[in-house]
Amino acid sequence: MTHVHKAKQLGVYGKDLVHNPDDKSFEGFIPEEQPYQIDFLDDFEIEYCKKFYYDRVTSEVVQLNKSHFFLVYPLNYPELREILIPKLNEQFGKWFSYSDINNDKQKQSSDFYFWQQGIFAPHTDSLIHIPGYVPYKDVLIPLEMEGGVDSPYYTFNQRWYGRGCHFKYKHIDNMFALYSDIMREKPYGEYKFFKNYESDPDKMISKDWYDEYFGEIYNYEMLQGFSLNKMLPWTPGRAIVTDSSMIHGATNYKIKGGKYKLGITLRLFKNIPEYKPSTVFSVFPQMQGFSECKADPRMDENA
Ligand SMILES: [Fe+2]
Repeated sequence: MTHVHKAKQLGVYGKDLVHNPDDKSFEGFIPEEQPYQIDFLDDFEIEYCKKFYYDRVTSEVVQLNKSHFFLVYPLNYPELREILIPKLNEQFGKWFSYSDINNDKQKQSSDFYFWQQGIFAPHTDSLIHIPGYVPYKDVLIPLEMEGGVDSPYYTFNQRWYGRGCHFKYKHIDNMFALYSDIMREKPYGEYKFFKNYESDPDKMISKDWYDEYFGEIYNYEMLQGFSLNKMLPWTPGRAIVTDSSMIHGATNYKIKGGKYKLGITLRLFKNIPEYKPSTVFSVFPQMQGFSECKADPRMDENA
């Protein structure tokens, strides 16, 4: 059964997808900071991490959809821990990963290598249902961009203090995730977890920006209420660090000739005992959409 069929059965196709109506905000536990980039991996480490992924692509990689492939929980591999953990400790002090702290029966793909040919809509990736652990930073480590283009990552000035969410106002497609919410029905400012809605047309994302960086895959109205915070270049080895509340995404590198990209993305948490969220993972466990990938995606240009 496809995602669309499941969504129709559940009555959420073309509508908002809210996995837990009792979710609470995580605003106020950690001060907001602006995004930044840091030199994180040297050339040897970049090549090592790339090879580590491609050596496992036919045996351990999971296919999310036709153009996104994940190798989950990179921090569970001792070889990668040796490279990544000391750097993360130096940068972030005491932190936790999802696999350190969750008791979920149905695991969420929180930390992973991603190989992808497409992009997602503007979104956040926060996991908010674990008591005592507040979403802190997303760390994105670019490893490769095939096609030789610099296709930047963007952050908007808008934040979202609910669970990970995709922002798709007036856009209907067949993407549904096990954990993430999707907002399609109302202007974003009408949702309780949304912050800094931009109503000034002169400050909002322009149609020219949309055309240059998104192209025809979505609709311009989807960006209503957003304003640009930063454009961060996709440079192998140079990590992009953002607060987990920042709404962000990748620009459409295919417009510029990019073919696929590979990177590692991690979600860090801080331990704050006073944080007491609703612990419901999802009221739609049927929405699971991951399946084993048995083929090397690089072999299929039309995947
Ligand atoms: Fe993301």
